[in-house]
Amino acid sequence: MKNLKNTLFSHKQVEIGPESAYDNYIMAIESSCDETACAIVKNGREVIANVVASQIKTHAQYGGVIPEIAAREHLESINVVIEEAFRQAKETAGIEPKDITAFAGTVGPGLVGCLLVGLNAAKTLALVYDKPFIGVNHLNAHLCGNYIDTDLKPPFMALLVSGGHTQIIDVESYSKQTILGETIDDAVGEAYDKVARLIGLPYPGGPRLDKLAQVGNKKAYQLPEGKVDGYNFSFSGLKTAVLRLVKDLKSALPEGETELSENTVNDVCASFQERVSNTLAKKLKKALVERGYNQVVIAGGVAANSEIRKKIFDFENDGFKVFAPPMKYCTDNAAMVASCAYFNTNTFDDVDVEVFSRVK
Ligand code: KG4
Ligand code: ZN
Repeated sequence: MKNLKNTLFSHKQVEIGPESAYDNYIMAIESSCDETACAIVKNGREVIANVVASQIKTHAQYGGVIPEIAAREHLESINVVIEEAFRQAKETAGIEPKDITAFAGTVGPGLVGCLLVGLNAAKTLALVYDKPFIGVNHLNAHLCGNYIDTDLKPPFMALLVSGGHTQIIDVESYSKQTILGETIDDAVGEAYDKVARLIGLPYPGGPRLDKLAQVGNKKAYQLPEGKVDGYNFSFSGLKTAVLRLVKDLKSALPEGETELSENTVNDVCASFQERVSNTLAKKLKKALVERGYNQVVIAGGVAANSEIRKKIFDFENDGFKVFAPPMKYCTDNAAMVASCAYFNTNTFDDVDVEVFSRVK
């Protein structure tokens, strides 16, 4: 149980977490990258409000997220998403601002200018409504997306795959997590986006590449596996191999042609996706077996990938229980942040907590 003793709220003893004697309603705000999100979650698992304002259209014209523009868009959307979350909570559960147990906000990792917008809004709400404030780590929050609408309890093995991270995490308890391995260069999502760009797909490339891969031949091209020890990963060599392959395929085109055929592009995508998903599934399975767990979760934006999901759900044929959040809780959202504030008993903070851009 978490007894929050923020200095500003030292007159209060607030119980937050699975052992609390009363229902917890946590409102959380997420603004680490290009989604401005606000959610209210009851007891870490039941979503009573969930609002996401995406900036994808804005950034698509630049081919990637422009931090300064993202921060300005967060400023424009933040009050709208908060008001809408309060409206939904009132409508679905009769919950009003005074009923919120604590306010939470993502502290990092992420884009500093973006994080500041959401975090300051969450702190302000805590001060205005005289409730505790909880700072949440974005990566832990992605894992906690798996607690929403499920009965998942630790221990379990987790694969966290996003635009910025690729990690295998041993989740021993709600608050004890050990990173067993991670990427030594590009994150999976980053590799997807870079490969997508080099074959000419618009931003955000990951989901588009996934779509094309589904209709391609995954055995068309043999791409190399990044050779790294233990549970670590490397994807930059694979990205370079795709670059070389595309160059070779283009130079073999008949005179006058410059673009690869649709089928060839689909095959390149499928071969890349096959290599990535095999590598992730192989290492995750090894960790799972070595640790003797029977539950596994996938989390992060790339957990929306069709082939990665399929390969990991195939573990169920070997008796493992697999959890993956529905798409809306895979990509950035605030419900996972609220769930994390509830379950991760070691992450609460004082209102003077600062944002951070990278994992410390
Ligand atoms: O977790 P997330 O929403 O933001 C970060 O915290 O990074 O992940 C975004 C990443 C992007 O790189 C995006 O291209 C990738 O997730 N992504 C996918 C798919 N959906 C999103 N990558 C591959 N296949 C997908 N279906
Ligand atoms: Zn994320």
